[in-house]
Amino acid sequence: MIAQRLSARRLHQLLGQWRGDGHSYHELSESIVLLVRDGGIPSGSVLPAERPLAEELRVSRTTVAAAYQRLRETGAAVSRRGSGTVIRARRPAAESEWDPAATGEVDLCRAAPSPWSGLPALGQRALAEHASAFQLEGYDTIGHPALRSAIAERYTRRGLPTDPTEIMVTLGAQHAIFLIARALLRRGDRSLIESPSYPRAREALAAAGALIGELPVGRSGYDAAGMLRIAATTAPRLSYLIPDQHNPTGLSMPPELRAQLIATLTAQGGYVIADETTAELALGHPGLVTPFAVSAPHAHQRDMILTVGSLGKTVWGGLRVGWVRATPDLIAQLESARRVGDLGTGTWEQVMATLALEEYEDILAARSSELSASHRVLLAEVQARFPGWRLSQAAGGVSVWADLGEACSSRLSRSAAQLGLILPPGPRFGSPGVFEQYLRVPFTLPVAELAPAMALLEQAWDGRGNARPGPVDRDSPVI
Ligand SMILES: Cc1ncc(COP(=O)(O)O)c(C=O)c1O
Repeated sequence: MIAQRLSARRLHQLLGQWRGDGHSYHELSESIVLLVRDGGIPSGSVLPAERPLAEELRVSRTTVAAAYQRLRETGAAVSRRGSGTVIRARRPAAESEWDPAATGEVDLCRAAPSPWSGLPALGQRALAEHASAFQLEGYDTIGHPALRSAIAERYTRRGLPTDPTEIMVTLGAQHAIFLIARALLRRGDRSLIESPSYPRAREALAAAGALIGELPVGRSGYDAAGMLRIAATTAPRLSYLIPDQHNPTGLSMPPELRAQLIATLTAQGGYVIADETTAELALGHPGLVTPFAVSAPHAHQRDMILTVGSLGKTVWGGLRVGWVRATPDLIAQLESARRVGDLGTGTWEQVMATLALEEYEDILAARSSELSASHRVLLAEVQARFPGWRLSQAAGGVSVWADLGEACSSRLSRSAAQLGLILPPGPRFGSPGVFEQYLRVPFTLPVAELAPAMALLEQAWDGRGNARPGPVDRDSPVI
């Protein structure tokens, strides 16, 4: 990889509002580390020379030299003769470091439940019953017939009759969203996404060159009139919705809005992605969730809906299995678009996924009771520690959306990061600059870890006034 040399000016921009006075070398090195972790500075980047950076930031050269020294001592950078100080992304050095607890941080950028505890037994069963899968050729861009049938059968049971030819298995839901965006959008096409929403979907639409408009979802509910007005005036080519257990609010779209929204979004030939990655994570007693496409008033409108699902949040993020449900014509289009970038979903993952679907009701029931317990604790913690916050009334999903009562989300996030609690600020869930008054608070941590995390958040809240704007305001690997 060709090393990218960062100019002093560029690094200053990335660091945000960096004033000359009162910054320690420690703060500078920590801010650079956060930028590396968030993806703002790629591994291999060469940092600016000390003198121009000191001049740009209006700090002494000794401060910059000490910050660089600290980066080298902690392994975040290395010195290369002739190049200077080069950023090195830190990878787990030993196997034990694959354990996230080893970092000492609580990372809530990933609002994902713990891996389902039945996975080792499922793996053993897969080996005992399906070792013949090792004789298959692999290279499967559409999905194994048994898995496609199991997925189709589940849709049918949920009220949306589905044939296996309407299913394509993917490498998770994100892969499916990206493929759909790439296959259906052309540069400059209009698209719509709820606001707030899952940030990686917005990135997939943007990567396909779409112009992105927003459908407002408030903390306390859907702005149905606003959504329908925007849908009617935008005439989008592709819209992305999370109709059930929405990420980040945990809300579900009211039934009466669904049919009208589908009719409006598809009126001029627009497609709709219904992302159901979190749809079956219910609080309380899980029942069968009716798929969004069932609300389509007419069959031709239903055909414009591409339903995306995944085992990432229900079973395990490490089982990279998701899918798309769409007409066979659209599936064929997606499959040919796919071959440019990957040659199929792993055979073994598909065996595991097929077996997991056999036990899906039990898995969902276990998830529901874990998430309900964590949600209860979270509500009590927030009420006790942050009485001024107002939370969305989540019916399920992985998080609540908190109105903080003041526009301080980025400062809070930065203050939390300094305590080892990594939480993306509200603006990560919308377009830049909005949602400074909001924070996504996941309830995916086990009950025993939630209270300590909330204690850290309280400490961060108390210290938010001293946290300077910085890197976490921009980008973090949020899922
Ligand atoms: C709404 C939503 N869609 C898609 C994804 C990505 O899922 P997968 O891990 O299956 O790619 C996530 C993960 O956070 C999500 O919350």
